[in-house]
Amino acid sequence: MTKKATEGLSIGEVAKRSGVSVPTIRFYESKGLIGEASRTVGGSRTFPRHVLRRVSMIRLGVQFGIPLAEIKDIFESLPTDRPPTRADWQRISTAWNAEVDERIATLTRMRDKLSDCIGCGCLSLGTCSLLNPGDALAVEGPGPQRVLTAE
Ligand code: FES
Repeated sequence: MTKKATEGLSIGEVAKRSGVSVPTIRFYESKGLIGEASRTVGGSRTFPRHVLRRVSMIRLGVQFGIPLAEIKDIFESLPTDRPPTRADWQRISTAWNAEVDERIATLTRMRDKLSDCIGCGCLSLGTCSLLNPGDALAVEGPGPQRVLTAE
């Protein structure tokens, strides 16, 4: 039997429809990322349908490398008494754009430079003496500076 669009979803239904496990849904609930399930008259715990959108946004955010704490912070601006609007989601995706762009740029540099000197201070490759002579990049910070920072 198909549920009405206004009926809530059990945790199992949320898990199945969102493609994550029940323990993951419980984890998201415990971290305040998806709100809390409510009890029906019969005592069942149900989530509003729009929680599916939140779980999908969490999955996307995690794929983009956005920490759960940041996802939670931005979700706190979402309404709890109604489904988020397109404008609400647009505001979130806009907020993530700069972070996603930075990650794309870093991944691109990684892809392009990983087989070359990455500026980590090891000075173990022949090209290090050309690209990072005497570990000159150390003044810019620790780690693979040629990958982490834009030139
Ligand atoms: S690869 Fe580490 S300093 Fe060049």
